[in-house]
Amino acid sequence: MLENKKIVLGVTGGIAAYKAAELIRALIKKGAQVKVIMTKSAKEFITPLTLQTLSQNQVYTDMFVPAEKYEMAHITLAEFADAFVIAPATGNIIGKIASGIGDDLLSTTIMAQEKPTLICPAMNDKMLANPIVQKNINKLKKFGYAVMESAEGELACKTKGKGRLPDIAEIVEAVETLLTPKDFAGVKILITAGPTEEPLDPVRFITNLSSGKMGYALAVEAHRRGAEVTLISGPTNLPLPPAGKIIKVRTAKEMHKAVMDNYKKAAVIIKAAAVADYSPKVSATEKIKKDKKTLSLELKNNPDIIADVGRNKGGRILVGFAMETQNLLANAREKLKKKNMDLIVANNLREEGAGFRTDTNIITIIDRAGKTEPLEKMTKIEAAGAILDRVKKIIKKSNSKK
Ligand code: CTP
Repeated sequence: MLENKKIVLGVTGGIAAYKAAELIRALIKKGAQVKVIMTKSAKEFITPLTLQTLSQNQVYTDMFVPAEKYEMAHITLAEFADAFVIAPATGNIIGKIASGIGDDLLSTTIMAQEKPTLICPAMNDKMLANPIVQKNINKLKKFGYAVMESAEGELACKTKGKGRLPDIAEIVEAVETLLTPKDFAGVKILITAGPTEEPLDPVRFITNLSSGKMGYALAVEAHRRGAEVTLISGPTNLPLPPAGKIIKVRTAKEMHKAVMDNYKKAAVIIKAAAVADYSPKVSATEKIKKDKKTLSLELKNNPDIIADVGRNKGGRILVGFAMETQNLLANAREKLKKKNMDLIVANNLREEGAGFRTDTNIITIIDRAGKTEPLEKMTKIEAAGAILDRVKKIIKKSNSKK
């Protein structure tokens, strides 16, 4: 998504200015072109040469330059940019933008442009909590600027509190979101992801190989496209995606309850989780000892979550997954019918680059009419995009019937 996107990064004078170096690298790694504007105070924390070397572009610092170098930078940069990012953004720059002050190159350029703009505040916790700074942040939000929440943790002044620059990966994700068209604005989507764990005793459990990557990719992509995402996740090691609401569960029973409590509010339900079909009939309260020669486990059926939703889905769009090792399409079609889904995403565990734990997937999307669309190998984010495109078609069709 950031491939060939042009980002103008404003760096202002806070200790987190050094992290701008890492942000530039991360944006360039995603294929973006970056031009940097530094304020006078930012230059006290990190040199223009560092940012020039990393961005492979001239760094802009001065409003007034000698005539031989004359370029109306505040206008040319405004035209160049697909998006503006200010990271770190001090209370000072936030105050200047909110008050319409343009007294240096960065504040003047921001005033002269109307591109999507992301502000990443970073400052001492007391400065951030200052009601005037908060009022200015709210004013920026009202005027359509995207403003990230500062992170909590240890601050440069050795106090603990809220005011840290968000993680670089989160800033990059916010830039992706900023630049993605919002074709799911206002659509509530519930997504399940990951495996479930069914405990045998306090230290052992039955699970499967699901990593949660496909479900998390769906949450990320739906959020980028403006959906209101609720993510119900089994245990995973993945960083949490920027979903509106995240409910963490462990067992199939807990996932069932979380889905039942939440699906009615959603217009679209996507069940990417690999739910354990069985759980131990009894889960021992103490660790099971190895005092027997053989040990039999009695398992009981878990609730079929998607089938329960399918029975009462009303006008909601229900998307399921079928993970198979044989008879992929026939099994998937049968599951779609049996569980009353609108779409099923089939993938074959035996294909290289598909299934659990990989960053890619090879999917076939089947609809209720039996239309079967095999797709090439792609990243899980791209696969999520393809699934959402099919969901959008169904939404459009049902809206046109109303
Ligand atoms: N699913 C569910 N609840 C379960 C089992 C599965 O909601 N207890 C959902 C999965 O999230 C997926 C779909 O059903 O969207 C198909 O899951 P899959 O494991 O492929 O199929 P099963 O119905 O469990 O059938 P089988 O294990 O026999 O292939």
